[in-house]
Amino acid sequence: MTRRALELAALGTGLVSPGPLVGCVIVDADGKIAGEGTYFFDDVTHAEVAALELAGDKAKGGTAYISLEPHSHHGRTPPCTEALIEAGIKRVVVPIEDPNPLVSGIGFATLREQGIEIREGILKREAEIQNEKFIHWHRTGRPFVHLKFAGSLDGSCATRTGESKWITGEPARGRGQLLRHQYDAILVGVNTVLADNPGLTDRSGLKRRRDLKRIVLDNRLRIDPLCSIVQSASSIPVIVFCDRDADPGKAAKLSEMGVSVRKQKGGGKNLASVLDALAADDVQGVLVEGGPSVSGSFLDNRLVDKVTAFVSPLIIGGTGALPAVGGEGPASLAEALRLKDVRFERCGGDFEITGYPESRAPDGD
Ligand SMILES: NC(=O)c1ccc[n+]([C@@H]2O[C@H](COP(=O)([O-])OP(=O)(O)OC[C@H]3O[C@@H](n4cnc5c(N)ncnc54)[C@H](OP(=O)(O)O)[C@@H]3O)[C@@H](O)[C@H]2O)c1
Repeated sequence: MTRRALELAALGTGLVSPGPLVGCVIVDADGKIAGEGTYFFDDVTHAEVAALELAGDKAKGGTAYISLEPHSHHGRTPPCTEALIEAGIKRVVVPIEDPNPLVSGIGFATLREQGIEIREGILKREAEIQNEKFIHWHRTGRPFVHLKFAGSLDGSCATRTGESKWITGEPARGRGQLLRHQYDAILVGVNTVLADNPGLTDRSGLKRRRDLKRIVLDNRLRIDPLCSIVQSASSIPVIVFCDRDADPGKAAKLSEMGVSVRKQKGGGKNLASVLDALAADDVQGVLVEGGPSVSGSFLDNRLVDKVTAFVSPLIIGGTGALPAVGGEGPASLAEALRLKDVRFERCGGDFEITGYPESRAPDGD
C-alpha cells in the first residue's frame, strides 16, 4: 500500500512545487481500500483529507498509508494529524519524515501521543527520491541541481563543425521533456542560446502549475534580443544572470522585452549566488542542460546533485569535436566524479544513465 501511496503522490508531478508530492491510501479495519488522495497545490486539500473524505466512517479503526509525514501545524490548511485523529485512524504507515522544520518529526509525535501506531521506513529510498527536490531545498536552502546532457559513445556533443542535431533519437528527446516537466527551472549558457536558438520550454504535454523558468548565464549580455526565448519572455519567464558592469543599454532593452536581468558580482560565474537567487524565487529544482562550459562549471564547483546522460551508440571522433562536458576537470582520476545508485535504461536506440555524485550524502540520510 505504501507503493500505491507513492503512485498517487506522483500524480502531482509538475503540480505541487513549492510543496511536496504526497499521496495517501486509507485501508479500513477489514483491510479494504476505503479512500485515496493526492495533493495538488492549487486544490489546497491535502492528500490525507481527500482520502479520509472518500473513506468516511470506514476510516474508523483503519490504517493510513501516506508517502510523507503528515503535517501538524496550521498552514494553508488545518493540521492533517487532527483529521487523522478525528477520523479514528489506528495506524499510520509512512516512509519518511517531512524535511520542513515546521513539521519534521512533530507530526509523528502528535499521532503517537494519541495512541496511534506509527510504522516508518518502508520504501524509504523511493520516497526520498520522489521528493528529492523538496527535501534538498528544505535542508540546504538551495535548489536541487540536475545535470542533463546528451552525447556520443566517445563523449562528444557536437562535431568539429558544431553540428549537434540530433545525436540522440526521438525517445531520448521525449525523456528529456519529461525531465523538464519535473523541474521549476532550466539553465543554459549563452553560447547554447546563440548556437541553437532553443525554446527551452516543457513540451512533455503534461499539465504544470508554474511556467518553467528559463535561466541563461550571460556575463556580457551577448544574448540576441531576436532569439526565441527573449521574444517569448513576456509570456514565459526568462532570467539572465550577468556581470554588474554589463551594458546598461542592453540590460534596459532586455528588461523592456520582459527579461529579468540579474546583475551580480561575478555574474553567471558566481554559481552559488545564482542558486541562492533562484532559491529566493521559490525554485526547488533546476535542470542544467549545458552547454559543455556551463555543465563543466557546475561539476568543477561540486554543485551537481544528480546526473542524467543520454548516450547514443554513435562515434563522432576527431580532436576538434565538442566534449559533452567541459570546464577545468580534475587533475586525477581519484577526483573525478563517480556516480552511485546508477539506473540504466534503454531509450529507443540510445541509453539513459542516471546517478548521484558518490561524494554526496543522500538528502534523506
Ligand atoms: N548535446 C547536448 O546535450 C548539448 C546541450 C547544450 C549545448 N550543446 C552545444 O554546446 C555548444 C555551446 O557550448 P559552450 O560550452 O560553448 O557554451 P555554453 O556552456 O552554452 O555557454 C558558455 C558561456 O556562458 C557564459 N557563462 C556565464 N557563466 C558561466 C559559467 N558559470 N560557466 C560557464 N560559462 C558561463 C560564458 O560566456 P560569457 O563570459 O560571455 O558570459 C561562456 O562562454 C553549442 O554548440 C550547443 O549546440 C549541446
